[in-house]
Amino acid sequence: MEFKLTEEMEDIRKLARDFAEKKLLPTVKDRDENEIFDREIFNQMGKLGLMGIPYAEKYNGCGLDFISFAIACEEISRVDPSTGIGFEVHTSLCSWPINQYGTEDQKSKYLSKLTTGEWLGAFGLTEPNAGTDALNGATTAVKQGDEYILNGTKIFNTNGGEAEVEIIFAATDKTKGAKGMSAFIVEKGTPGLSFGKKEVKMGIRASVQREVILQDVHVPAANLLGKEGEGFKIAMQTLDGGRVGVAAQALGIAEGAYEHAVKYSKERVQFGKPISKQQAVAFRLADMKLKIEAARWLVYKAAYDMSNNISHSVSAAMAKKFASDIAMEVTTDAVQVFGGYGFTREYPVERYMRDAKITQIYEGTNEVQQMVISGSILR
Ligand code: CAA
Repeated sequence: MEFKLTEEMEDIRKLARDFAEKKLLPTVKDRDENEIFDREIFNQMGKLGLMGIPYAEKYNGCGLDFISFAIACEEISRVDPSTGIGFEVHTSLCSWPINQYGTEDQKSKYLSKLTTGEWLGAFGLTEPNAGTDALNGATTAVKQGDEYILNGTKIFNTNGGEAEVEIIFAATDKTKGAKGMSAFIVEKGTPGLSFGKKEVKMGIRASVQREVILQDVHVPAANLLGKEGEGFKIAMQTLDGGRVGVAAQALGIAEGAYEHAVKYSKERVQFGKPISKQQAVAFRLADMKLKIEAARWLVYKAAYDMSNNISHSVSAAMAKKFASDIAMEVTTDAVQVFGGYGFTREYPVERYMRDAKITQIYEGTNEVQQMVISGSILR
């Protein structure tokens, strides 16, 4: 057993870190304050090969694994968690199910453009009355000839309205419960597909979450992903992977806030010495670092399981819950280290604290992760 990243993984870390520090850092504050979604960022990430890290070269991906992807997610989120989630949803929630369940035609048509960043991806599962209870959605798909007609509304859709490709989940037969949901690849621009309210949020303000409205949207039957009735399984398996990405995002958020806190503690002088020399601050920093390192290995282990086709529902749930909880704790501690300044917009730690909160909620609330973990213990 080796606790060591490969050279390729270190190269991805360097690539993502350089990009984050050179391209994201200069504008991150402005984009957060003014809620600016900048598509050009994803175009540039595509050119660097970051938008298709875990997918085959045949589909223009890098042919690497999910640990490399998690590291990239961590590094992007260490500087800019808003870009982190757009990147994560694109790679995990939209590209993964196409890679896993897509036909050859679907992969060459969609995955090959998602991996280059030419097209951006989104994932439409959540509805006004179906959040945690994801099976309870009201969106329907009715087969007519060689098409499905989709009707319904999705909410909190990350990249919604910006993405060229949406994975939409809809009931093809409500009476069949989990076996009555199907997944569809829906292209932006399809008549009847429109986008409603853009959410105004506490954090990740430079990412977009929009309402997706489907009114008699005609989707070719060729765009059914997997088989009819496999949609819920596809959604759950996709989210198992997505949770690894959110865990990596949370890890990056904690690291970003922690590094700012360490730096500030060495510069800020009170009672004639840097506050880092006060044991109350030094011990707080020690605990922050400890939590980050513990989270790191849960995140990389879940990504390792995913890369090696080891069942990762539980390891992903553990990583997501732990990393998001410590992200909230570490960012709150970082604000505390900064004192009154930490509460102002002058320093970035308040932004990290606002951004951390959603990692405890999306891609399955942490209570859902407890359901998954306890279910595996008590089965
Ligand atoms: N892999 C494969 N199959 C799975 C599965 C998994 N991980 N989890 C469940 N299933 C299967 C079950 O085996 C079962 O199949 P059978 O009927 O054949 O036995 C079927 O799915 C139903 O499972 P459950 O009875 O467990 O389903 P449930 O209705 O009780 O729901 C739940 C379970 C865990 C609460 C689930 O609904 C869930 O994960 N909810 C949270 C949804 C979620 O994460 N939403 C996030 C939206 S995306 C987002 O946040 C995007 C963004 O913007 C960032």
